[in-house]
Amino acid sequence: MDAAAEVRKVVIPVAGLGTRFLPATKSLPKEMLPLLTKPTIQYIVEEAAASGLDDVLFVTGRLKRAIEDHFDLLPSMEVHLASRGREDLLQRVREPAALASFHYVRQPSPLGLGDAVLRARHHVGRAPFAVMLADDVYVADPPAIAQLLRAYREAARSVVAVTRVPRDEVGRYGVVALPPGADPALGRVAALAFVEKPRPEAAPSEWAVVGRYVLEPEIFEILERTGPGAGGEVQLTDALNELARRGRVDVLAVSGERYDVGEPIGFVEATVALALSDPELAPRLGRFLKGLLSADLRPAAARGPGGSAGGTGCA
Ligand code: UTP
Repeated sequence: MDAAAEVRKVVIPVAGLGTRFLPATKSLPKEMLPLLTKPTIQYIVEEAAASGLDDVLFVTGRLKRAIEDHFDLLPSMEVHLASRGREDLLQRVREPAALASFHYVRQPSPLGLGDAVLRARHHVGRAPFAVMLADDVYVADPPAIAQLLRAYREAARSVVAVTRVPRDEVGRYGVVALPPGADPALGRVAALAFVEKPRPEAAPSEWAVVGRYVLEPEIFEILERTGPGAGGEVQLTDALNELARRGRVDVLAVSGERYDVGEPIGFVEATVALALSDPELAPRLGRFLKGLLSADLRPAAARGPGGSAGGTGCA
């Protein structure tokens, strides 16, 4: 039987507070911040849909209504655009709702990613399922989650995406312990253990967990028994560690470009990269960036009187 053919459901937790984007996220979900004209969450759902995941469950929370509205129809806008013959815009407005079937479950308070995933138990049932985090936007072909689904199909074991990070950054991630000499960039590798946010000197490797997973439903029974871990939150990493102890989970380095849009600098990088890959935007943005880079970028105080750091300038 083709196990991956059964994976139709994806869980997308969006109940976090997004504190790194305050004050923007006081009233706006960080997942709705736009990369060019599309909110980041649409890139995630498009990746899921392109990989055959047509049943999306958002684990949502207070202040996240805008996500529900985005993946719904908006008849008043459609009537308005249709009356003006704007077929191009009509298409853009309708697109999100057509990507998948959408379901919602609430996480009453942000107790951690593990707690958020556990909220999906009823909807997912006893089938394998995908988890995608909206903080990680991938530009990849095949899509990142499709690469994991393929790996899942090969072995019907849970599989988690990892990426290599500099050792001084491991403390921001869950980190995997691997068998000696194993290289997840060459193919799936059995995970020996997972550690959440280790100190650099204590990290078992430089391979960090990123936001793409295909999980067997046994994760729910493990999460039920997982108490708060690092930062006082219920960590998915701790449940993955139990899966590793049972010898039931692999890791794989997916190929492609990953942008961490959960933090402002990664968001800027993603915006610039996407704009530079757009033939309409690239020429002007390229000129703008070249101008900035050739200007003197030292702070004004260091440049002395009359110094300029570039910009378009105004009279
Ligand atoms: P983050 O660690 O990025 O937390 O969560 P956050 O609240 O979104 O952002 P910051 O760190 O305060 O800026 C990773 C993913 O897990 C979800 C988040 O929505 C995000 O997609 N999450 C986290 C939940 O759904 N519930 C939680 O309790 C925690």
